[in-house]
Amino acid sequence: MTFALIVLAAGKGSRMNSELPKVLHPLAGAPLYLHALNSGRALNPDRVVLVTGVGADQVAASAEKHQVEADIVVQSEQLGTGHAVAQAQPALLDFQGDVLVLYGDTPFITTETLQAMKTAREDGNDIVVLGFNAADPGRYGRLVMDGDALTRIVEFKDADKEERAITLCNSGVVLADSAKMFDLVNSLKSDNAGGEYYLTDIVALAGSQNLSATVVTCDEAETLGINTRAELARAERLFQQNARHQALESGVTMTAPETVFFAYDTHLGRDSLIEPNVIFGPGVTVETGATIRAFSHLEGCHIGSGASVGPFARLRPGTELSNDSKVGNFVEVKNATLGEGAKVNHLSYIGDASIGDAANVGAGTVTCNYNGVEKFRTEIGARAFIGSDTMLIAPVRIGDEAMTASGSVITKDVPDGALALGRAEQTIKPGAARRLFDMYKKAKAKRYKVTK
Ligand code: UD1
Ligand code: CA
Repeated sequence: MTFALIVLAAGKGSRMNSELPKVLHPLAGAPLYLHALNSGRALNPDRVVLVTGVGADQVAASAEKHQVEADIVVQSEQLGTGHAVAQAQPALLDFQGDVLVLYGDTPFITTETLQAMKTAREDGNDIVVLGFNAADPGRYGRLVMDGDALTRIVEFKDADKEERAITLCNSGVVLADSAKMFDLVNSLKSDNAGGEYYLTDIVALAGSQNLSATVVTCDEAETLGINTRAELARAERLFQQNARHQALESGVTMTAPETVFFAYDTHLGRDSLIEPNVIFGPGVTVETGATIRAFSHLEGCHIGSGASVGPFARLRPGTELSNDSKVGNFVEVKNATLGEGAKVNHLSYIGDASIGDAANVGAGTVTCNYNGVEKFRTEIGARAFIGSDTMLIAPVRIGDEAMTASGSVITKDVPDGALALGRAEQTIKPGAARRLFDMYKKAKAKRYKVTK
């Protein structure tokens, strides 16, 4: 069945008490709305519409950054969830099929659950609503059932005592035929306690038009909606707990999983070993059998099989470590590739560089990639040896099997197999050290007498 995804992301989220629109607050390294959107996208929708409003430009910029292919529409006034869905209609005029509405502030909906809703639609229900049994129903909308049929949804604000006692709650996720959905949302009225066009009212309206509605239920954990910073922090905790559990299940060793933090898209290969206090930012893949040692911070990088990182390493976006390569303590790498078996073991900065197979980069080496205006690349050949404390002034190329002397400042290319020395020549002055010590001691003694 063809279907379009509509993600509601227009609300301000006043309870976040923030300048940033609620849906842009990060959860596991991705803006909130992207979580729901990704769950929906996994079902291959034919169209995606993102409804923005508060901070529309910021949300649109975020969608572009995350390569979300969607029609972005703007709800200029936040008149309610029903009104928000209606804003998607112009973008879907030429579309026939179902629409699935997701809330941008509800990040944990799983693709399996959405699939179950599609199945319920295929079984002939006109409207399928996702519900859950709440331990503490709080302010969620309540689902009023008549057997298997959903007769209406009542918002907490509008519910009487008896309705508030219902524990079957509305997640906000709805699936229906697009033409019917837009007919219904265009007929909504705002005569309720919130003075808003409630999407939830389409159920009662549908009933009056002899359309059927039913409920698919999921685990309460999936429907957690984020409205406050405390809820966001709780969601982060739940996300991390789940990610750690999944990693362990998939064959990753972690000695202290509770100290390892994942991003929404972290991928760890089987038999990788993650030591304590490691933080994964977005875009990290670690292949089989690699080791990430304690207190390392990684984002936007790919770690090959058998490679070793850290302790105390920082890998920034564009880092590609080939199999069995090694990045040691207090090393920062950015936009750089390390060939197979290459080593950068201590106290170095490697940025905008490529390092050949089995090359060895000595302690304290810096690729000086930035002249204050532009950035330039450093290339280091296979099996090259970079002496400790070499400053590589980019753009510069060090050939295969070439060598730089420790303490060199390298400004010119070094041919294959050559040795480059770029430091002042050493001179020896016999006895001069002793004479200097004597002189300094006398000077100190003199000063001491005077000040006393
Ligand atoms: C909504 C449901 C409630 C459900 C709960 C689940 C309605 C009327 N109520 O309540 O039944 O139990 O979610 O979390 O639908 N939004 C817009 N434009 C608007 C208003 C909201 O885009 O004009 C977006 C928000 O950005 C948010 C989502 O819709 O992503 C939900 O809005 P919110 O105000 O949080 O609804 P709730 O009061 O939580
Ligand atoms: Ca909400």
